[in-house]
Amino acid sequence: MARINCIGILTSGGDAPGMNAAIRAVTRSAIANGFTVKGIYRGYDGLIAGDVRPFTTENVSNIIQTGGTILRTARSKAFCTPEGREQAYTVLKREGIDALVVIGGNGSLTGAKVFAEEYDYPCIGLPGTIDNDLYGTDSTIGYDTTLNTILQCADKIRDTANSHERIFFIEVMGRDAGFLAQYSAIAAGAEAAIIPEDNTGKDQLIEFMERGIRKSKKSCIVIVSESPTCGALYYAKRVNEEYPEFDVRVSILGHLQRGGSPTAHDRILASLVGYGAVQALLQGQRNVMVGVRNNEIVYVPFIEAIGKRKPINKEVIKVLGQLSI
Ligand code: F6P
Repeated sequence: MARINCIGILTSGGDAPGMNAAIRAVTRSAIANGFTVKGIYRGYDGLIAGDVRPFTTENVSNIIQTGGTILRTARSKAFCTPEGREQAYTVLKREGIDALVVIGGNGSLTGAKVFAEEYDYPCIGLPGTIDNDLYGTDSTIGYDTTLNTILQCADKIRDTANSHERIFFIEVMGRDAGFLAQYSAIAAGAEAAIIPEDNTGKDQLIEFMERGIRKSKKSCIVIVSESPTCGALYYAKRVNEEYPEFDVRVSILGHLQRGGSPTAHDRILASLVGYGAVQALLQGQRNVMVGVRNNEIVYVPFIEAIGKRKPINKEVIKVLGQLSI
């Protein structure tokens, strides 16, 4: 295996609070272990374009507490093409970068896997996504911060929902995973969560309305996972048509969920996996995602991290059902 002297770092896909803490951790662990570091700007697009700069410990000073990503990010179409990846490889060789650490979600780590196999190139992935949809790690960088952001919004919406005795559908992100909706619903004391994982053919709205929720409560909060066809607007429209006696409102939280200073949990997770990325390279590992499971740093082959669906614990769905009566 070729000796690694220089490590390149990039962030890719949707930004997530804690990405900066991860960039800092990789940079500092790498330098502490004698590697040089280069920051690659604007994700895979920036790699293809050669937007690469040397990084010292100073480049990552005073960023652990900041949201977004100092390296910027992109959803690269070019890297999905063989020509784009070839150009990326040429840039890595030219820049003397011997290994790549990619901080991102499912799509970004899929790109890293394809590239690593095509060019026999060492890539390490860090789970950076608010969606928490990567298999093999208890949590992903950004997920906890976003949960807390949703919670702050839901608490505020509860005030007005109560005053007006309304049903509110709050739509949250998550792509096709319901972690943000399910867990924020428990934390917010919401009356229900509508998530893709619970879609067993039953009508989740009818089920919820037939529980007679308004018998015991004046207001209602339902947290709905985003969906191109049946998000919060869909359910609100149906309540208007099928249960016109209820006053219903919608709040789509949108991209505010991706901003803000990372929580302690996300900063610690990012620090552990950033350190773990450098450990993985020192141990000669490649093509793995670094995660944390039961408080231990773990190395998950890309194929598992992106290929296996991370399940939502069914018991957690029952918890919400029982606590929201
Ligand atoms: O993957 C993170 C995420 O925020 C998803 O929850 C959401 O569906 C998507 O990105 C939104 O992407 P964009 O910022 O490109 O609109």
